[in-house]
Amino acid sequence: MSRIPVMGDDLPATMRAMLGEEFELLPWDDALGSAALARAEGLITYGHPRVDGPLLERAPHVRVVSNHGVGVDHIDVAACAARNVVVGNTPGVLDAATADMTFALLLAIARNVVVGDKFARSPQFTHYDPSNLIGREVTGSTLGIIGLGRVGRQVARRARGFDMRVLYHGRHRQLAAEQTLNVEYVPLDELLARSDFVTLNCPLTADTRNLIGAAQLKRMQPTAFLINMARGGVVDHDALVHALTAGTIAGAAVDVTEPEPLPRNHPLLTLPNVVIAPHLGSASDKTRRRMQEMTVDNLRAGLRGEPLPYQVRPAK
Ligand code: 8YV
Repeated sequence: MSRIPVMGDDLPATMRAMLGEEFELLPWDDALGSAALARAEGLITYGHPRVDGPLLERAPHVRVVSNHGVGVDHIDVAACAARNVVVGNTPGVLDAATADMTFALLLAIARNVVVGDKFARSPQFTHYDPSNLIGREVTGSTLGIIGLGRVGRQVARRARGFDMRVLYHGRHRQLAAEQTLNVEYVPLDELLARSDFVTLNCPLTADTRNLIGAAQLKRMQPTAFLINMARGGVVDHDALVHALTAGTIAGAAVDVTEPEPLPRNHPLLTLPNVVIAPHLGSASDKTRRRMQEMTVDNLRAGLRGEPLPYQVRPAK
């Protein structure tokens, strides 16, 4: 049996085991212009390698791009469609883990978990001082969710446990969710002005790129926090650094940046009122396992010319 050449050699052992002997895994590293690309029949995007028209031009045999993850902002889906290349992703399974992480970061920045950890390990912690590291109370505060999609709705559910008032903004009003989740739709400016915590849970699209810039940060309260679980490109990083330094907002917690990772000397990495995670939104054992299975299922279906179980359609 000949093995099907697929690009994605950096996959974890669990995923390699799922792929079995059926596939020959080719290296991504030297993708552009590489002989591997010319032979590949499928692509697995693990992490965020960019797949666009120029790359596909060099990969004439590729029939399917199977993305490990739900966000496909690194894949030019229209360019794939134009070449009859189908694109798969992993929706749904990571909503709970990503919502959990949204709250992990929200609580971490509000309650000084990271600076507290550093202090508790340091020689400076010589006695317990009740005046030290007073954070912001989360229970009973106002949460503004930007993007009430699958993840955003899970964030809203968790917010109920913290007795939070929940505002949301997105492309569409969600009347059913307003009833079941007790959330209030407001214009973006109103959400920014009223929220103690603003969480970004939207995809990165042409509409959401730089959605949060200097003007939006100025509308937030000086006591408010921004939590970015979406994509780095949703926030203007220069404006964010300025807002955090000038006291326009109290702090930020970010799971994602652009670029990712940031250059090691980026000013965001030096600010004490920032918590930063290395893109851990969906990084839980159970969720990752399911994402891997879905990625492999999509790949197999695409290579057989069957409809993908989870197929991404190009935007109209
Ligand atoms: C993934 C993500 O871990 O699903 C997404 O869109 O951002 C992450 O949860 C990432 O895509 C890595 O493959």
